[in-house]
Amino acid sequence: MPRILVVYGTRPEAIKLAPVVTALRRTHCFETVVAVTAQHRLMLDQVNEIFGIRPDHDLDLLRDRPNLTGITAGTIEGIEPLLAKHKPDMMLVQGDTTTVFAAALAAFYAQVPVAHLEAGLRTSHRYDPYPEEINRRLATVLASLHLAPTSNARRNLEHEGVDPASIHVTGNTVIDALLQVHGMHLPTTEPALDRIGGAERLILVTSHRRENWGAPMERIGRAVARLARRYPQAKVLLPAHLNPIVRESLLPPLEGLDNVVVTAPLDYVDMAHAVAASTIVLTDSGGVQEEAPSLGKPVLVLRETTERPEAVEAGTVALVGTDEDRIVDTASELLDEPDRYFEMARAVNPYGDGRAADRVVAALGAHFGLREPPEEFIAPVETEAEAESRRHRRAGAPAMHPALAHLWWGAREQRQQRTAANSPQN
Ligand code: UD1
Ligand code: UDP
Repeated sequence: MPRILVVYGTRPEAIKLAPVVTALRRTHCFETVVAVTAQHRLMLDQVNEIFGIRPDHDLDLLRDRPNLTGITAGTIEGIEPLLAKHKPDMMLVQGDTTTVFAAALAAFYAQVPVAHLEAGLRTSHRYDPYPEEINRRLATVLASLHLAPTSNARRNLEHEGVDPASIHVTGNTVIDALLQVHGMHLPTTEPALDRIGGAERLILVTSHRRENWGAPMERIGRAVARLARRYPQAKVLLPAHLNPIVRESLLPPLEGLDNVVVTAPLDYVDMAHAVAASTIVLTDSGGVQEEAPSLGKPVLVLRETTERPEAVEAGTVALVGTDEDRIVDTASELLDEPDRYFEMARAVNPYGDGRAADRVVAALGAHFGLREPPEEFIAPVETEAEAESRRHRRAGAPAMHPALAHLWWGAREQRQQRTAANSPQN
C-alpha cells in the first residue's frame, strides 16, 4: 500500500488539506501519515480540531522561528528525520507557503516524489505575492504530480513546460472544506459575533499579506474606518490575523468605532458563517477570494495582482489594490447602487464543485497504477436562462441567501441554548 506523507503548517493549508486527509483515510488504498510544521500554531490547531484531524507528527516550529529563513531551515531539518523514518512513496503539500516549499525541498533531497496541490497559480510578479509566487514556482520544479485547481492553472504549468500527463485538474479543495463545515451544522463560538447579529449590512475585512505590511495596510485600515463612519448602520467585522506586524498597521485607525468589531482569528466554522452573513468582503486573502464568490458575495481584493483570475473574469471579484480612496469609492458604489451590487453578487463556482478531494485521491491512485485518472474539473458556466433568472430575482433580493441565513441564525440559537443550559443556575 503506497504511503503518503502529508505535510502542512498554516491555516489555509490545513483547511484545504483537511478534505483530502479525510478522503485518503476513507479509501484504505493508502497509508496516510500527517505531519504539521505548525508554522501557525493556534490558527492551525483551530482547523485540525474542527475537521477531527490528529497529526501523527507535530514539529511545533512557530517557537523561535519568526522569519522566513528560520521557518525554511526549521522545516527542512524537522522533515528530514520523518522522511527517513517513514520512507514515504510520496509527499503531499498544498499551496504556496514557506512550509510547502521547504518540505518539498526536504523531500527532493531524500528523493521522495512530491505531489503539489493547488499547483499552477501564477501572478508572474516575483515579489507579488511575496514570497508566495516564488514558493509556488519552486514547488512546481520540485513536484512530480501537479494537482491544478482550474484549467487556467493547468495552462500556466504547461506553458512552463510541465509534462501535461503529470497534471490533473481537480477543482479547489477549499470548496469541499466550505461545504463540509456548513454541513456540520456546528454552532458559532466567537461571542463577538453576537455584535454583528441583525446588522442590515455586514462588511467583512481580512488582511495579512506581507507585500501589504506597513503603508499599504495602514491605508487599508484608514479606508475601512472611513467606510464605518460613512455607513453607521452597517457593521464591519475584522477577524485580525495574529501577526503583530499586521495588527500594528491595520487596527489603530479603527479604534473607538462602535460599528467595527475586531476579533481574534475566527475558527473556520465561525468564518464560514461570517462569509455567508456578509454583504461585501474586502480581503487580500487567497482562500477568501475563492470562498466568497461561491456564496455569492462580491469581493474587493486589496492587492494589485491576483493569481486567482477566474472570479475576476466571472465579475464577482474586483482588484482594487490598496489606494484609500479607491477602496472607499468602490465599496461605496456597491453599497449605494443595488444594480452594481447585484451584478457582482452572483454565486459562481469557478474554483470547485465540492468533489476536488475525491479527484485528488483518484489522481494519486492513478499515479500509483491503482485506478483510472479522474475526470477533470470543469468550471460551470452561467447559462443565459440562469443569468435571466438572476436578473429577475435581484430586485428586493436579501443580502444573504435565505438558506444560509437559516443556517446562521439556527446556529446562533443553538449556541445560545447551549450557553443557557451550561450556565450555573441550571
Ligand atoms: C503565512 C504564509 C502566507 C499565508 C498566510 C496565511 C509564508 C511565508 N506565509 O503568512 O503565504 O497566506 O500564512 O495566514 O509562509 N502567528 C501566531 N500564531 C499563529 C499564526 C501566526 O502567533 O497561529 C503570528 C506569529 O507572530 C508569526 C506571525 O503571525 O510570526 C506570522 O506568521 P507567518 O507564518 O510567518 O506568516 P504569515 O504572514 O502568517
Ligand atoms: N479564515 C478563518 N478565520 C479567519 C480568517 C480566515 O478561518 O479569521 C479562513 C478563510 O475562510 C480561508 C482561509 O482562512 O479559508 C484563508 O487563510 P488566510 O487568509 O490566512 O491565507 P491565504 O488564503 O491568503 O493564504
